[in-house]
Amino acid sequence: MKNAPIDYKRWYDAADSRVSTRRFGGAPEADELERLELLAAALAGDGIRIKIAASTPKLFSGLMARSIKNAAYAALLVGKDGSPNVRAGYKGEALVLEATAMGLATCWIAGTVNRREARGIAALEEGESLLGVIAVGKPEQPLERIPDGERKRKPLEKLVQSEKGASLADILPWQNTALKCARIAPSAMNMQPWRFACAKDVICMVASGIFDKSAELDLGIAMLHIDLGAAVGGVRGSWGVDGAVWVFSVADADA
Ligand SMILES: Cc1cc2nc3c(=O)[nH]c(=O)nc-3n(C[C@H](O)[C@H](O)[C@H](O)COP(=O)(O)O)c2cc1C
Repeated sequence: MKNAPIDYKRWYDAADSRVSTRRFGGAPEADELERLELLAAALAGDGIRIKIAASTPKLFSGLMARSIKNAAYAALLVGKDGSPNVRAGYKGEALVLEATAMGLATCWIAGTVNRREARGIAALEEGESLLGVIAVGKPEQPLERIPDGERKRKPLEKLVQSEKGASLADILPWQNTALKCARIAPSAMNMQPWRFACAKDVICMVASGIFDKSAELDLGIAMLHIDLGAAVGGVRGSWGVDGAVWVFSVADADA
């Protein structure tokens, strides 16, 4: 997304230890909250704002929300009506990865939250809606790098659609780094609803399955992971959309 402050290497490294935490170990320190609030302010734009707020007893209570324990804070993603959820996904994941880099625990929440309470905390204005919630707090145990094999994810071969006769071996090293980073991204119910295809100087992404609001968030999250992996692989680019296909194009590829 244009103008978003992206800490490529720091967040790329953080992606390796990010995991959805549902039992938290306490509240972030004041300086950690300040840093998250500064980032939230810097990420605001494109019709999206992020409010960081102390959790209330009701926010993660009730039948749907029982699985989230002791989350002291929440980041609430708010969009002006009509703002694409992909942008909220991208910006929310930036916040998640910065929190992870600081050693904090997070969990994206689409369903297991009291939405009425969340809307109240976010103080929605006319024409705004709640797009997502991220629980934030201290982990019970320090975060650690999660080895690739320990993540429940589809193999890259299933996520990358190859032309007939082409294989993963044909993709460029920067594309490989970007796709591996996208593969470990979080997604609602771990559906991993993204499929990729590579060509020279581009990575294309389409949604697989139902393209609902959650899947839109998931796509935005994967877009940030692609940006991070590509940058660490030595390539910067930008996203465009062509119908239902999101296209990451290498900057100045023809220059
Ligand atoms: C948009 C989105 C919504 C999610 N909603 C919930 C939720 O409502 N409740 C929950 O416990 N986890 C939720 N998750 C967390 C996913 O279940 C989790 O990311 C996925 O299982 C992969 O596990 P990991 O994040 O530990 O790698 C959500 C994740 C995303 C990206």
